[in-house]
Amino acid sequence: MSPDMQDARFCLESRQSLQDLLRQERACEDLERQERASENLPLQEGIRLEIGASYNHEDEAHRSSTLQGSYGNQGPSADPPYTTFCVGVPAQNREPASLSPLSESLWKMSTDTKNIGDVSAWLCWRDLTVKVLNHKGETQTVLDNLSGYAEPGHLTAIMGPSGSGKSSLLDALAGRLSSNTIQTGLVMLNGRRRNLSCGAAAYVTQDDNLIGTLSVRETITYSANLRLPDGMIKSEKLAIVESVMAEMGLQDCADTAIGNWHMRGVSGGEKRRVSIAIEILMRPRLLFLDEPTSGLDSASAFFVTQTIRNLAMDGRTVIASIHQPSSEVFELFDKLYLLSGGKTIYFGDAAEACNFFAAAGFPCPDLRNPSDHFLRCINSDFDRVKAALKGSFRIREQENFDPLDRTTTAQVINVLLNAYRTSEYALLAIAKMHEIMKVKQTVLQSSGSQASFFMQAYTLTKRSFTNMFRDIGYYWLRLVIYILVSLCLGTIYYDVGTSYTAILARSSCAAFIFGFVTFMSIGGFPSFVEDMKVFERERLNGHYGVAAFVIGNSLSSAPFLFLISMTSSAICYFMVNLHPGFFHFLYFALGMYASVMVVEGMMMAIASIVPNFLMGIITGAGIQGMFMLVAGYFRLPKDIPKPVWRYPVSYLSFDFWALQGQYQNDLLGLTFNNGTITGEYLVKEVFQVDLNRSKWENLSVICAMVVLYRLVFFLMIKMKETVTPWLRGKVARWSLNRRKAAVHTAARNGPTYVPRLERATP
Ligand SMILES: Nc1ncnc2c1ncn2[C@@H]1O[C@H](COP(=O)(O)OP(=O)(O)OP(=O)(O)O)[C@@H](O)[C@H]1O
Ligand SMILES: [Mg+2]
Repeated sequence: MSPDMQDARFCLESRQSLQDLLRQERACEDLERQERASENLPLQEGIRLEIGASYNHEDEAHRSSTLQGSYGNQGPSADPPYTTFCVGVPAQNREPASLSPLSESLWKMSTDTKNIGDVSAWLCWRDLTVKVLNHKGETQTVLDNLSGYAEPGHLTAIMGPSGSGKSSLLDALAGRLSSNTIQTGLVMLNGRRRNLSCGAAAYVTQDDNLIGTLSVRETITYSANLRLPDGMIKSEKLAIVESVMAEMGLQDCADTAIGNWHMRGVSGGEKRRVSIAIEILMRPRLLFLDEPTSGLDSASAFFVTQTIRNLAMDGRTVIASIHQPSSEVFELFDKLYLLSGGKTIYFGDAAEACNFFAAAGFPCPDLRNPSDHFLRCINSDFDRVKAALKGSFRIREQENFDPLDRTTTAQVINVLLNAYRTSEYALLAIAKMHEIMKVKQTVLQSSGSQASFFMQAYTLTKRSFTNMFRDIGYYWLRLVIYILVSLCLGTIYYDVGTSYTAILARSSCAAFIFGFVTFMSIGGFPSFVEDMKVFERERLNGHYGVAAFVIGNSLSSAPFLFLISMTSSAICYFMVNLHPGFFHFLYFALGMYASVMVVEGMMMAIASIVPNFLMGIITGAGIQGMFMLVAGYFRLPKDIPKPVWRYPVSYLSFDFWALQGQYQNDLLGLTFNNGTITGEYLVKEVFQVDLNRSKWENLSVICAMVVLYRLVFFLMIKMKETVTPWLRGKVARWSLNRRKAAVHTAARNGPTYVPRLERATP
């Protein structure tokens, strides 16, 4: 039995002693409170029983010097790793045990962490079941009654064949399951039910969503500026960035761009390492990694896993799903959670897994990598591999010796499932879970960022501006198209004049500019959708707030939109020769600028609801087409049908306000048809403009819309984070109940066929 298992058993036997210690702790706290009250000193969290304080086998000397008492009183090497007892150490004098220099520095900058207990994350899950619901209301069990725990100082690896539920388990633990899933069971962090999204835990997802135009160093530096405390000086931040890059082996590609659709960048494996580097930068207390080594060669995979393990040894809790590690990587795992078809095949010490398989009748052959052996035992695809290789000389040679050749994978899985259920590993896991769940630890607040709101907004503005500047598809291409379209318009309406026919020409020119030309702003939507993917990743990891993102994006896009609208306005205005005078031109240019800003804001709001770029463009185009129709050009304002189209739709249309203002700006003060028709007459009688509102008032309504759409975007994101998961959960539960009722009715009415999609159980 491994030392850790002995420790767990020891803990189980000593549960009574643990209760005693808790009582003792409370008594000590009371005593300290009394002493401090008599000395008139502020209360320190100095006396405290620390369940889950960080430990490090390789740093016993440091640990023993920091621990004032130890459970069992058997010296440092005999201590149960999860139970340490600190008595009478004032918080300011206590050193964090086993933290790396970087972790210590970050830890000290934080105001809410006063002792080492605060950086521990004890995660425990019991009877965790996840079902997915398809559009027909059928369910598939993705995770089936899983129980386990993850503790500080350990790297827990989740392994299993493809589709076995590794990502789903990580998602369920991190509170990130998608909307069509139903989760039951208990997930507890430090003895409490907690929602782990938005910063309480860091999560490196299977996909790498990064900004393609930034280099590796820039990507990590911006992330550091977004999250490291404002008080930390620049050189310190840069030193942290360099050390993280060195840890992840990214120095050689530090100045290479990540890469995007028009620019080849770093390799897939390097991208993976950048994603990990960003998350380990802040030394999170709880870290989830989904396939951190996919796309890496075995040496890189080893070094990445070693870095992750070092992080765990710092007292952090690390859970990673890994597909098929090499034997060197496998040796780095502390705990192994083996899954097949959403069921637990084995959970316990990674080093004990071979013994478990051997005891179940499937020993790992001498020259085989243990992880290969485990996956070979539980991956049903190997049945087909064996069938395909049947008859080959090698297989015939080996089949007498390998028990796997004599049984099907379904049988092997069955044997393993039963063996685990009754094994001492399962019992020890339950005992340990019981201990962990019982003790309420510190509530872990979101630790994603320690930077101030202004620093976040400033950094996001700068990062977004850099990206927009470098990505030719974001604004530069649009600028070229705007110039070309403006030149087309300028030549078609060239020097329009004040003849009788110029009246219609001026109105159609204005309608085209404020309708179709601003319409082209939806071209930036695909780039914005890419930004949103990065935002979603960073937001879920708590890197910054929604408001900082909205401000950053709006401020960074403003100069580009200004350039586009000024250039196009100047070309159109002076080629067409609209109403002479600087302020008339200024109004026209500002109107166009405000209109493109509104379109950008509207597309942001659409992106928060429809994150797919094709669907978003179709939705945006549809809405703008509708707004154009009610702008007052295609149908005069008084002719627009009243109940819906005139009130409220025409008033919601920015085209309407823009056109009303431009008619006044262009026509008032001019005379047409050799002075026989005045601009006032045209504006009032022909174009039915409401002259009670000045053109500047019309412009201010458009400016209000610029703010309003961004506010809608902000509220939609906030709603998505709070209301939508709750609503979708309700709908999923309702669908499930409906299906159950249908099955029940079918059973009552006799043997009719009920569609059923359940995972094939072994
Ligand atoms: N939201 C969902 N909707 C439908 N099916 C789902 C959903 N989430 C998970 N599944 C299904 O659950 C099973 C497990 O998926 P999961 O992504 O967890 O597997 P995995 O072990 O991570 O696989 P891989 O190694 O290929 O990443 C798959 O069959 C998958 O199709
Ligand atoms: Mg996966």
